[in-house]
Amino acid sequence: MGVKIIGLGASVPLKLVTNEELSRVLDTSDEWITTRTGIKRRHHSSSSETTSYLSYKAGVAALRSVTHSDDSDVDTLIVATSTPDRRCPATAPKVAAMLRLGKIRALDINAVCTGFIYALELADALIRSGKSKKLMLIGADVFTTILNKQDRTTYPLFGDAAGAMILTNSDDDNILSTYTGSDGEYENLITIPDGGTESALRPDGVNADVFFRMEGKEVFLKAIAHMKESVSEALNLSGLSKENVDYIVPHQANKRIIDTISQLFELNKDQALMSLEEYGNTSAASIPITLVRHVKVGTIKPGNKIVVTAFGGGITWGAAVLRWPDEKINANVI
Ligand code: COA
Repeated sequence: MGVKIIGLGASVPLKLVTNEELSRVLDTSDEWITTRTGIKRRHHSSSSETTSYLSYKAGVAALRSVTHSDDSDVDTLIVATSTPDRRCPATAPKVAAMLRLGKIRALDINAVCTGFIYALELADALIRSGKSKKLMLIGADVFTTILNKQDRTTYPLFGDAAGAMILTNSDDDNILSTYTGSDGEYENLITIPDGGTESALRPDGVNADVFFRMEGKEVFLKAIAHMKESVSEALNLSGLSKENVDYIVPHQANKRIIDTISQLFELNKDQALMSLEEYGNTSAASIPITLVRHVKVGTIKPGNKIVVTAFGGGITWGAAVLRWPDEKINANVI
C-alpha cells in the first residue's frame, strides 16, 4: 500500500510587512535583513487571523486543489503548530469543525519548525497501517504572537502562515521515505522559557519570560548539521542517491543555510526551492507554502523527486523524500 499526495494549499494573513517598514520601527535595515537572511517581506496576522483561522483557510485551499480522488472523506486531521489558539485544548478539533470534516480523529503535534515533517511521518504511518484512508495535515504558526516586537534578532525573521496537504492510501507511492530526530539537551536554543508547567509550578509562579528566544549562531550551525544528516538518512531509506534528486525544499529560515545545504549535496542553486524572500520563516508552514509556490508556477512537475527537510526547536530535525504525483494539483496560497 502506498501514500498518495492529492491536495495542497496555503494561506497567509492579509497584511504584508516589508523590510523597509520594519526598519522604521526597529534598529535594523533592509540591507542587513536581506544579506544576512534573504528575507524581503513577511505577512503579519491581525487579531482575527489566528492559527485555527489560517489553518482553516489553508485546508479550504487544499480541498479545492484536489482534481483526482475517490469519494472517501478525510478521517484524520493533524495540525503541526507551536502557536496553538489555546494551551488547552488542541487546535486541530476546532479546525476539523470549521472545515466541517465531521467527528474525526484530530490532533496537534509540536515540533516547532520541524512540525510539518513530523506530521508527514505520522500521517504516512497512519495511512500505511490502514488506520486512515484520507488524511489532512496542516503546518500552521502565528509567530508574531510570541515574538518581542522590540527584539531585532528575532522579530524580522518570522512571518505568519499555514500550509495544508491531503494524502490518501493508493497503489501509487509519493512518500518514498521519512526520517526524524531530536535532542532535548538543547531545548534552550529555541524556546519560550515561561508560560508552561515549569514556571507555573515555581513557588513564585511568575511568568517572566514569555517571548520566543533563539540562539541564532548556534542554531545556524546545528540546522546545517542536522538537515545534512536528515537528507542523507532519508535518501538512504528511499534507496535514492543525491544524483536522483530534482529539488530540495529546506526549511525557510535563512538563505545562507539553504545555500550551504545545497552545496553539501552538490545541487545547483536552482534545485533549492525557496519562498523565504516573500514569507520569511513561517515555522511549521514553511515547507508546504514553499511547495505550493513551486507547484503553482510549474517548477515542480509530475514524477520529480523532492527532498523536504527541516530543523527546529526541541531541538528537532527531519527529512522526507517525495515523488511528486502524476495527477494535477491546483495548489494556491489564499
Ligand atoms: N538588524 C541589524 N543588525 C542585527 C539584526 C538586525 N535585524 N539582528 C542582529 N543584528 C546584529 C547583532 O546585534 C550583531 O551585532 P554585533 O556584532 O554588534 O553584536 C550582528 O548583527 C551579527 O549578529 P549575529 O547574530 O552574529 O548574526 P548572524 O549572521 O548569525 O545572523 C541570524 C543572525 C538569526 C539571521 C542567523 O544566525 C540565523 O539565521 N540563525 C538560524 C536561524 C534558524 O535556522 N532557525 C531555524 C529554527 S526556527
